[in-house]
Amino acid sequence: MKQWELRAVIFDLDGVIVSTDVYHFRAWKQIADQEGIPFDRKDNDKLRGVGRMESLDLLLGERKNLYTAERKQELAEQKNCVYRKLLQELTPQDILPGVIELLAELKKDGIRTAIGSSSKNTEYILLRIGLKDSFDTVVSGNDIKRSKPDPEVYILAAKKLGVLPEDCIVVEDAKAGIDAGNAAGAFTFAVGSACGYSRAGACRADLRGMTSAQMKDFFSCR
Ligand code: BG6
Ligand code: MG
Repeated sequence: MKQWELRAVIFDLDGVIVSTDVYHFRAWKQIADQEGIPFDRKDNDKLRGVGRMESLDLLLGERKNLYTAERKQELAEQKNCVYRKLLQELTPQDILPGVIELLAELKKDGIRTAIGSSSKNTEYILLRIGLKDSFDTVVSGNDIKRSKPDPEVYILAAKKLGVLPEDCIVVEDAKAGIDAGNAAGAFTFAVGSACGYSRAGACRADLRGMTSAQMKDFFSCR
C-alpha cells in the first residue's frame, strides 16, 4: 500500500490567497448593465474559478450566440480594463487570514508551494499583495489552454514543482477548481464557498489557524 507523503501544496489565487470577488463583480456588472443583461452577486458567484471568456459566455447566457467572436473579445478586454483599475486598490492587507502563517510553516517543513490560477492577472495580483516571490512556482491563465474544471493548471504546476499531482494538496474555493484538482489526481482541500462540496477531500471555512501538520494529517488520511 502506498505511503502518502505530502510533497507540495498548490493554491488557487482568487478566493484562497486574496478575495477579488467584489472587483470581478463591479467590472462584470458594468458590462452587463451596458448590454442590458441582469446580473447580480449570485450570478457573479457562478463565475468563480471560471476563465475570462467562459465567464463572459455565462454572463451573456442565451444571448451569447448573438455576439461575434471579435465583439466578445472587445467586451472581455473592456471588463479586464475596469478590473485592472480596481485591482490597484489591493494591498498586502487584503491577504486572507492564515495564508502568511501557513506559507511560512510549509516552507519550514520543506513542502513546496505553487499558485495554480485561471487568472491572466495572477502576476499583477501577487505583486500588489507582496507575494510575488513567495511561491516556488506560479502557473496562471497565461500558461494554460483549458480553464478549470480541466486539470491542466494543476498538472502543469506539479510538473514545474517536480512532483506528482498525487503527492500534492490543491487548495480551492471554487467547485470547478475542486473538480480540476481531483481530475489532476491531487488531494483537494476546499475553503470558502467550496467548503461543503461533496467532492472535496477536506474542507474548512478559511485557512485561519491552519498548520502544516494539519495539512499532512488530511493528506495521510486520504
Ligand atoms: C479565476 C477567478 O481565478 O480567474 C474567475 O475565480 C476569473 O472569477 C478567472 O474569471 C479569470 O480571471 P482573469 O483575471 O484572467 O480575468
Ligand atoms: Mg478561486
